[in-house]
Amino acid sequence: MRILVLGGGAREHAICWKLKQSPRVAAIFCAPGNAGIANIAETVELIPTDVKAVLGFAMRERIDLVVVGPEAPLAAGVADALDKEHIPVFGPRKNAALLESSKAFAKEFMQRHDIPTARYAVFSFEDQVECRAFLRHVNYPAVIKADGLAAGKGVIICETEAEGTHALDEIFTHRIFGEAGQRIVIEEYMTGDEASIFAITDGIDYDLLATAQDHKRIFDGDRGKNTGGMGAYAPAAIVTPEIIEQVKREIIEPALKGLRDEGRIYRGILYIGVMIANGRARVVEFNVRFGDPEAEVVLPLLDGDLAEIFLACAEGRLAPLLPIKQFPASAVTIVMASQGYPDSYQTGEVITGLDDFDQKKEIEQGIAVFHGATKLDDRGRFLTSGGRVLSVTAVGYEEDLRHTITAAYNAVSQISFNGAYYRSDIGKKAHRTPEPRTA
Ligand code: AMP
Ligand code: GLY
Repeated sequence: MRILVLGGGAREHAICWKLKQSPRVAAIFCAPGNAGIANIAETVELIPTDVKAVLGFAMRERIDLVVVGPEAPLAAGVADALDKEHIPVFGPRKNAALLESSKAFAKEFMQRHDIPTARYAVFSFEDQVECRAFLRHVNYPAVIKADGLAAGKGVIICETEAEGTHALDEIFTHRIFGEAGQRIVIEEYMTGDEASIFAITDGIDYDLLATAQDHKRIFDGDRGKNTGGMGAYAPAAIVTPEIIEQVKREIIEPALKGLRDEGRIYRGILYIGVMIANGRARVVEFNVRFGDPEAEVVLPLLDGDLAEIFLACAEGRLAPLLPIKQFPASAVTIVMASQGYPDSYQTGEVITGLDDFDQKKEIEQGIAVFHGATKLDDRGRFLTSGGRVLSVTAVGYEEDLRHTITAAYNAVSQISFNGAYYRSDIGKKAHRTPEPRTA
């Protein structure tokens, strides 16, 4: 198989790394990729949202399967264009990717199919008078979200009506979210514990991959600004077998049926961000792709041939490959970021200590270093080139997650660059006593 992976972060590095382990794979191309990915795949200078360019490359290079990492190419219709030319693609069509690209659509979809989520209302720029009136009577805290794609940053939690009105001014008048803020969703604030659940599907059959918990805030103790994600671990014990059953029955199955009934072809990953409270999960968000950094812990735990599984999904014949197996292990990933992220930061810093993590050693030690944003200089050294630079993953077979956490931090301590920042409490919340179950 000749595979094209779209994207260039640590998630795509983890995807390429897992694909590379498949005996069926003859060549992996990754567009645009990064310097770490270039060690295991051929990187291609191509913009993933440029649908015509992607299609042209796939046809010219006789690509057997396209795997879409991030959401933007899916929202731009890359799966539709490839499908039309009968090129198998792992990733949903544009009208199904709306689950992520429009929060108003996602909320209305959940309402249509009776999927548990926070109560909400949708307002457009034109409905500002009604919206302000609504904010007078709503319960606080309330959550205001931009409808469109905002890289995980389009959410404002408002404690009072004054904060709500201020948020509205920011979105509609100062347009802090640009086009993404033409419409907003106002929703009930949910308390509880968040988890990420990944369903892999051909649109009809599905199975779950390992559950995970992300760490979205920049500082220890879940403080400070939201980021793309500073670390993750899997599996997440907080997602009990009972919750998994409830999520399948009340969320995943109605969602897949709803997508089918509405003619929205979904072949790929359905990422369900849930809030768990009182022993029940409700949907915080749907994403139409793997999470990053969750992919860096979920994929190393997958016991199977990823190329075979992805192709079967893309061709609508997943059933014979079920169930999808997981290694009886845990995984932890620590994101090493540039100082200042998620605000402004320096790039071009030299990274040292990476040489020790060649692929052979990695596997022996249960360590994998996935590059999020690196490039090579003319002396062959790795330089930082973005906010989330590396995801350092450890896989461990000990029962206690703490061993895996220690292994991941040991690997992190061997790598350095100027201003390297990482959280020191990744995985700690796994040991917190879960919320008591009240009626
Ligand atoms: P989203 O982009 O919708 O995933 O929101 C980003 C983050 O904001 C989530 O991961 C939650 O931590 C938080 N959030 C979003 N919606 C809610 C809600 N209704 N209640 C509580 N927290 C929320
Ligand atoms: N880690 C959160 C996300 O990928 O959306």
